[in-house]
Amino acid sequence: MKQTLKKHYERALITGATKGIGLAFASELARNGTRLVIVARGEELLHSVAERLRAEGTVEVVPLVCDLSVAGSAEWLYGECRRRGLAIDLLINNAGMFAYCDQMKMTEERVAKMLQLHVVATTELCRLFGADMAERGRGAIVNLSSYAANMAWPGLAVYSATKGYIDMYTRALGREMRERGVRVLSVMPAGVATDLYGLPEKWQHRAVRWGVLWSAERVARGSLRALYRGRMRYVPGAVNRLLQPIVRHLPKCVISFLRRRTLVFQK
Ligand SMILES: NC(=O)c1ccc[n+]([C@@H]2O[C@H](COP(=O)([O-])OP(=O)(O)OC[C@H]3O[C@@H](n4cnc5c(N)ncnc54)[C@H](OP(=O)(O)O)[C@@H]3O)[C@@H](O)[C@H]2O)c1
Repeated sequence: MKQTLKKHYERALITGATKGIGLAFASELARNGTRLVIVARGEELLHSVAERLRAEGTVEVVPLVCDLSVAGSAEWLYGECRRRGLAIDLLINNAGMFAYCDQMKMTEERVAKMLQLHVVATTELCRLFGADMAERGRGAIVNLSSYAANMAWPGLAVYSATKGYIDMYTRALGREMRERGVRVLSVMPAGVATDLYGLPEKWQHRAVRWGVLWSAERVARGSLRALYRGRMRYVPGAVNRLLQPIVRHLPKCVISFLRRRTLVFQK
């Protein structure tokens, strides 16, 4: 069994904590006794995950049902934590949605939800909880960007752009907050074996075994380690870090070739 990372914070709020990377963050923190506020839309799963996390060791898990793609939800979430007296010293903005779809085919509603979830909710939660942390002179924020922020890929316009926003916003915020005792980390994973892309579980396991995808647990642990070391940005995987400048400047012919072969996966 892997050694649990040392407890650094008292209470963490994790958005999108019922699956994938968010769940891995929650499990890792639960094991060292960090109190948790977990957030997602699906009520049933949220409550069963809360039960599981309590069994894993944490003293307190508060599940809050909230759809962060709805305007005003970040204020509601913050207000609910205040009302219940839940002081947050680690905020993990992890909830996200994915769309591989050409802009002209994407519905207005889907675009608006992604902008609201990735851009508006992330910004508002950072501002609201960040202000309390700055006042206390202590705390940390982890924001989930993506490796896709490096790539101007056809079909990923809103996803890549919103993840690019998160990375830039997070790094600038980190420079402001550092002098106020608050650490801020941007995480940019490449492929991770989760339900985000709708990949069947069998293929997720195989892809991790073959080294094509990272496991959510590895990303969560790596991110927490990077945060504790005071890093401002974490790109999981040495190869991914090495390839970053190349991925940013792929020639048009390579992009067209890959586009032709992946058009069938658009939805
Ligand atoms: N998987 C990857 O390869 C990858 C790569 C780079 C970056 N990322 C980023 O990492 C983050 C986590 O991704 P993941 O792969 O772990 O995703 P996932 O397995 O699909 O889990 C998403 C989590 O977010 C919650 N969620 C989704 N929409 C929400 C909303 N509107 N309001 C509140 N909660 C919401 C989901 O629960 P409900 O559906 O019940 O709300 C679920 O708990 C995302 O921001 C993603 O963009 C992932």
